[in-house]
Amino acid sequence: MSGLNYRKVAVIGCGFVGAASAFAIMESGLFSEMVLIDANKEKAEGEALDISHGLPFAKPMKIYAGDYKDISDAYLIIVTAGAGQKPGETRLDLVKKNVGIFGSIIPQIAEVNKDAIMLIVANPVDILTYAAKQLSGYPENRVFGSGTTLDTARFKYLLGEHLQVDSRSVHAFIIGEHGDSEIAAWSSANVSGIPINDFCEMRGHFEHEASMKAIAENVKNSAYGIIEKKGATYYGIAMSVRRICEAIVRDEKTILPVSSIQHDNYGISDVALSMPAIVGKNGVETTVPISLSDSEVEALKASAATLKKVIDEVL
Ligand SMILES: NC(=O)c1ccc[n+]([C@@H]2O[C@H](COP(=O)([O-])OP(=O)(O)OC[C@H]3O[C@@H](n4cnc5c(N)ncnc54)[C@H](O)[C@@H]3O)[C@@H](O)[C@H]2O)c1
Repeated sequence: MSGLNYRKVAVIGCGFVGAASAFAIMESGLFSEMVLIDANKEKAEGEALDISHGLPFAKPMKIYAGDYKDISDAYLIIVTAGAGQKPGETRLDLVKKNVGIFGSIIPQIAEVNKDAIMLIVANPVDILTYAAKQLSGYPENRVFGSGTTLDTARFKYLLGEHLQVDSRSVHAFIIGEHGDSEIAAWSSANVSGIPINDFCEMRGHFEHEASMKAIAENVKNSAYGIIEKKGATYYGIAMSVRRICEAIVRDEKTILPVSSIQHDNYGISDVALSMPAIVGKNGVETTVPISLSDSEVEALKASAATLKKVIDEVL
């Protein structure tokens, strides 16, 4: 990679998610330049100004509303642009609409910048990650989605609350689709090395089946619940985006459940979904095939099949 400014990030789409992510990125101090792009230029300009006014309390950086020509040297390009689901609209309608939006955005990015890392956040994130790979011509390691990073954070948070332990000491993943067919990988879940059920019993919880079902359902339905109450979700995803940026910029080789194109993982290929993966300066280095129970493998295969069906219908 050459000609890139490794301290420069771009956020395409400055709605709730893009603006909150830009704010979290500004606070992180990871970059010295941030370009905001939105179809509504005034929105991008307003967000750039508002976020810039926090800079005297953070670290110096340049934040401005720009155009595609301004991102030719950006190291990291985050795409949050997309339409939300309208009443009466099916999921598939929404997929078609957002794939259409990507059909306009991604080639414009690829035209000016072939070397960046592209992080897809807009939904349905797995389908749009697959579409972005096709539309950009980028190598697979440099186009990936936030995937189930947010769902996994919700999972850890809920387990931390349930067990009254720091959520950072909880090691557990949500894998598969970022959506209804996602899977809680209970068989590998642990708290600082202690298998999850043993830790539960240590904390006085013995109803494993019921608790696991309730927590997994809560994770899956979190977004629906928040959207019903406040119209959109954005702080959790903003922190997830910030964490992924950190792993890349600092070349941390952190294991995160991002969405990437799979190659014979449990027999799954040619579909983007989330599996834990090593993330560093070149994007996704490799996926980490955590061990799964037979039922988890079946559920993962079903999740992949659900996504493949949508890909076949819209791409
Ligand atoms: N991956 C996750 O975990 C996660 C979590 C929350 C939300 N999301 C998704 O993020 C996306 C954005 O959500 P939001 O709440 O910010 O929506 P929003 O409607 O507030 O913002 C979308 C923005 O995209 C812009 N836009 C639309 N078409 C564009 C184009 N062609 N070029 C540039 N900008 C364009 C709009 O002007 C708008 O500002 C949605 O798809 C949502 O489902 C993902």
